[in-house]
Amino acid sequence: MIDLTEIHSFLPCTTPEAWLNAAPGQLNTLLIDHANCEKKAASTALHLLYRYIDRTELLAKLSQLAREELLHFEQVVALMRKMGMTYRRLSPSRYASELRSHVRKEEPLRLLDILISGAYIEARSCERFAALATRLLEEKETRAIGHYYRILLKSERRHYTDYLALARLYAAESIEERVAWFGEVERELILSPDAHFRFHSGVPR
Ligand SMILES: [Fe+2]
Ligand SMILES: [Fe+2]
Repeated sequence: MIDLTEIHSFLPCTTPEAWLNAAPGQLNTLLIDHANCEKKAASTALHLLYRYIDRTELLAKLSQLAREELLHFEQVVALMRKMGMTYRRLSPSRYASELRSHVRKEEPLRLLDILISGAYIEARSCERFAALATRLLEEKETRAIGHYYRILLKSERRHYTDYLALARLYAAESIEERVAWFGEVERELILSPDAHFRFHSGVPR
Protein backbone atom coordinates (compact mmCIF):
# COMPACT_ATOMS: atom_id res chain seq x y z
CA MET A 1 0.00 0.00 0.00
CA ILE A 2 1.21 3.50 -0.78
CA ASP A 3 1.58 6.16 1.89
CA LEU A 4 -1.63 8.20 2.27
CA THR A 5 -0.57 10.20 5.34
CA GLU A 6 -0.59 13.51 3.46
CA ILE A 7 -3.98 12.80 1.87
CA HIS A 8 -5.47 12.04 5.28
CA SER A 9 -4.03 15.14 6.90
CA PHE A 10 -5.22 17.33 4.00
CA LEU A 11 -8.82 16.07 4.06
CA PRO A 12 -11.11 17.37 6.82
CA CYS A 13 -12.58 13.92 7.62
CA THR A 14 -12.52 10.28 6.55
CA THR A 15 -15.29 8.60 4.54
CA PRO A 16 -18.17 7.69 6.91
CA GLU A 17 -18.72 4.00 7.70
CA ALA A 18 -22.32 4.30 6.51
CA TRP A 19 -21.11 5.18 3.00
CA LEU A 20 -18.62 2.32 2.96
CA ASN A 21 -21.28 -0.11 4.17
CA ALA A 22 -23.66 0.97 1.39
CA ALA A 23 -21.10 0.79 -1.44
CA PRO A 24 -20.96 -3.00 -2.06
CA GLY A 25 -24.73 -3.01 -2.66
CA GLN A 26 -24.45 -0.16 -5.19
CA LEU A 27 -21.60 -1.31 -7.39
CA ASN A 28 -23.19 -0.67 -10.77
CA THR A 29 -24.12 2.90 -9.78
CA LEU A 30 -20.68 3.37 -8.26
CA LEU A 31 -18.83 2.26 -11.39
CA ILE A 32 -21.01 4.31 -13.74
CA ASP A 33 -20.47 7.38 -11.59
CA HIS A 34 -16.76 6.59 -11.35
CA ALA A 35 -16.52 6.40 -15.16
CA ASN A 36 -18.36 9.73 -15.40
CA CYS A 37 -15.99 11.31 -12.85
CA GLU A 38 -12.94 10.23 -14.87
CA LYS A 39 -14.46 11.74 -18.00
CA LYS A 40 -15.32 14.95 -16.15
CA ALA A 41 -11.82 15.16 -14.61
CA ALA A 42 -10.29 14.93 -18.10
CA SER A 43 -12.64 17.55 -19.49
CA THR A 44 -12.00 19.98 -16.61
CA ALA A 45 -8.25 19.65 -17.19
CA LEU A 46 -8.73 20.22 -20.94
CA HIS A 47 -10.83 23.30 -20.24
CA LEU A 48 -7.95 24.71 -18.14
CA LEU A 49 -5.48 23.95 -20.95
CA TYR A 50 -7.56 26.11 -23.28
CA ARG A 51 -8.08 28.93 -20.82
CA TYR A 52 -4.63 29.35 -19.25
CA ILE A 53 -2.23 29.01 -22.18
CA ASP A 54 0.31 31.35 -20.53
CA ARG A 55 0.79 29.06 -17.48
CA THR A 56 3.56 26.73 -18.59
CA GLU A 57 3.60 24.42 -15.56
CA LEU A 58 -0.18 24.06 -15.66
CA LEU A 59 -0.04 23.04 -19.33
CA ALA A 60 2.51 20.31 -18.61
CA LYS A 61 0.86 18.88 -15.48
CA LEU A 62 -2.75 19.04 -16.63
CA SER A 63 -2.18 17.63 -20.08
CA GLN A 64 -0.62 14.56 -18.44
CA LEU A 65 -3.51 14.47 -15.96
CA ALA A 66 -6.12 14.64 -18.74
CA ARG A 67 -4.48 11.71 -20.54
CA GLU A 68 -4.41 9.64 -17.35
CA GLU A 69 -8.05 10.38 -16.52
CA LEU A 70 -9.12 9.30 -20.00
CA LEU A 71 -7.10 6.11 -19.63
CA HIS A 72 -8.88 5.48 -16.29
CA PHE A 73 -12.18 6.10 -18.06
CA GLU A 74 -11.37 3.41 -20.64
CA GLN A 75 -10.33 1.02 -17.87
CA VAL A 76 -13.51 1.53 -15.81
CA VAL A 77 -15.71 1.04 -18.88
CA ALA A 78 -13.81 -2.17 -19.70
CA LEU A 79 -14.15 -3.37 -16.10
CA MET A 80 -17.91 -2.73 -16.14
CA ARG A 81 -18.21 -4.68 -19.34
CA LYS A 82 -16.20 -7.57 -17.93
CA MET A 83 -18.50 -7.65 -14.90
CA GLY A 84 -21.62 -7.61 -17.07
CA MET A 85 -22.70 -4.15 -15.94
CA THR A 86 -24.47 -1.70 -18.23
CA TYR A 87 -23.32 1.88 -18.76
CA ARG A 88 -26.51 3.90 -18.49
CA ARG A 89 -27.17 7.60 -17.95
CA LEU A 90 -26.78 8.76 -14.36
CA SER A 91 -27.10 12.22 -12.85
CA PRO A 92 -23.88 13.52 -11.24
CA SER A 93 -23.55 13.85 -7.47
CA ARG A 94 -23.90 17.20 -5.74
CA TYR A 95 -20.25 17.07 -4.62
CA ALA A 96 -18.25 18.62 -7.49
CA SER A 97 -20.93 21.11 -8.52
CA GLU A 98 -21.28 22.34 -4.91
CA LEU A 99 -17.51 22.76 -4.60
CA ARG A 100 -17.40 24.59 -7.94
CA SER A 101 -20.29 26.86 -6.97
CA HIS A 102 -17.84 28.53 -4.54
CA VAL A 103 -15.28 29.37 -7.23
CA ARG A 104 -14.85 33.14 -7.33
CA LYS A 105 -15.49 34.84 -10.67
CA GLU A 106 -12.55 37.25 -10.95
CA GLU A 107 -9.04 36.21 -11.97
CA PRO A 108 -6.60 35.12 -10.66
CA LEU A 109 -8.88 34.03 -7.79
CA ARG A 110 -10.94 31.91 -10.16
CA LEU A 111 -7.91 29.86 -11.18
CA LEU A 112 -6.82 29.40 -7.56
CA ASP A 113 -10.26 28.22 -6.46
CA ILE A 114 -10.50 25.76 -9.36
CA LEU A 115 -7.07 24.35 -8.48
CA ILE A 116 -7.90 24.08 -4.77
CA SER A 117 -11.23 22.38 -5.42
CA GLY A 118 -9.42 20.08 -7.87
CA ALA A 119 -7.01 19.13 -5.09
CA TYR A 120 -9.97 18.22 -2.83
CA ILE A 121 -11.69 16.15 -5.51
CA GLU A 122 -8.49 14.20 -6.22
CA ALA A 123 -7.62 13.75 -2.54
CA ARG A 124 -11.14 12.52 -1.69
CA SER A 125 -11.09 10.13 -4.65
CA CYS A 126 -7.78 8.74 -3.45
CA GLU A 127 -9.00 8.32 0.14
CA ARG A 128 -12.22 6.66 -1.02
CA PHE A 129 -10.47 4.30 -3.47
CA ALA A 130 -8.20 3.14 -0.64
CA ALA A 131 -11.04 2.60 1.85
CA LEU A 132 -13.21 0.91 -0.78
CA ALA A 133 -10.40 -1.34 -1.98
CA THR A 134 -9.99 -2.78 1.51
CA ARG A 135 -13.73 -3.62 1.61
CA LEU A 136 -13.97 -4.94 -1.94
CA LEU A 137 -10.92 -7.18 -1.61
CA GLU A 138 -12.70 -9.11 1.18
CA GLU A 139 -15.26 -10.68 -1.18
CA LYS A 140 -14.45 -12.89 -4.14
CA GLU A 141 -17.07 -11.28 -6.43
CA THR A 142 -15.74 -7.76 -5.89
CA ARG A 143 -12.02 -8.54 -5.70
CA ALA A 144 -11.29 -7.41 -9.29
CA ILE A 145 -12.63 -3.92 -8.54
CA GLY A 146 -10.69 -3.79 -5.27
CA HIS A 147 -7.46 -4.65 -7.07
CA TYR A 148 -8.11 -2.02 -9.70
CA TYR A 149 -8.82 0.66 -7.07
CA ARG A 150 -5.48 -0.07 -5.39
CA ILE A 151 -3.74 0.54 -8.72
CA LEU A 152 -5.41 3.96 -9.01
CA LEU A 153 -4.13 5.29 -5.67
CA LYS A 154 -0.73 6.40 -6.91
CA SER A 155 -2.00 8.52 -9.81
CA GLU A 156 -4.83 10.07 -7.78
CA ARG A 157 -2.38 11.02 -5.04
CA ARG A 158 -0.15 12.66 -7.65
CA HIS A 159 -3.12 14.53 -9.17
CA TYR A 160 -3.90 15.94 -5.71
CA THR A 161 -0.24 16.97 -5.28
CA ASP A 162 -0.14 18.61 -8.72
CA TYR A 163 -3.33 20.62 -8.24
CA LEU A 164 -2.21 21.89 -4.85
CA ALA A 165 1.32 22.69 -6.06
CA LEU A 166 -0.10 24.67 -9.01
CA ALA A 167 -2.38 26.63 -6.66
CA ARG A 168 0.63 27.51 -4.47
CA LEU A 169 2.72 28.41 -7.51
CA TYR A 170 0.18 30.84 -8.98
CA ALA A 171 -0.95 32.43 -5.72
CA ALA A 172 0.31 35.90 -4.90
CA GLU A 173 -0.03 35.19 -1.19
CA SER A 174 -0.61 32.23 1.13
CA ILE A 175 -3.56 30.03 0.10
CA GLU A 176 -3.84 28.22 3.44
CA GLU A 177 -6.89 30.16 4.58
CA ARG A 178 -8.73 29.45 1.33
CA VAL A 179 -7.70 25.77 1.47
CA ALA A 180 -9.12 25.51 5.00
CA TRP A 181 -12.31 27.27 3.90
CA PHE A 182 -12.87 24.82 1.04
CA GLY A 183 -12.12 22.05 3.54
CA GLU A 184 -15.15 23.13 5.59
CA VAL A 185 -17.37 22.98 2.51
CA GLU A 186 -15.96 19.56 1.66
CA ARG A 187 -16.52 18.22 5.18
CA GLU A 188 -20.17 19.25 5.06
CA LEU A 189 -20.67 17.52 1.68
CA ILE A 190 -19.14 14.28 2.97
CA LEU A 191 -20.75 14.19 6.43
CA SER A 192 -24.27 15.44 5.70
CA PRO A 193 -27.13 13.19 4.49
CA ASP A 194 -27.32 12.77 0.71
CA ALA A 195 -30.36 11.60 -1.25
CA HIS A 196 -28.30 10.01 -4.06
CA PHE A 197 -25.59 7.39 -3.69
CA ARG A 198 -22.58 8.34 -5.81
CA PHE A 199 -18.79 7.99 -5.71
CA HIS A 200 -18.42 11.33 -3.86
CA SER A 201 -21.79 11.36 -2.07
CA GLY A 202 -22.44 12.17 1.59
CA VAL A 203 -24.02 9.90 4.20
CA PRO A 204 -26.67 7.69 2.51
CA ARG A 205 -30.21 8.46 3.66
FE1 LIG B 1 -8.57 9.14 -12.38
FE1 LIG C 1 -7.42 11.98 -10.87
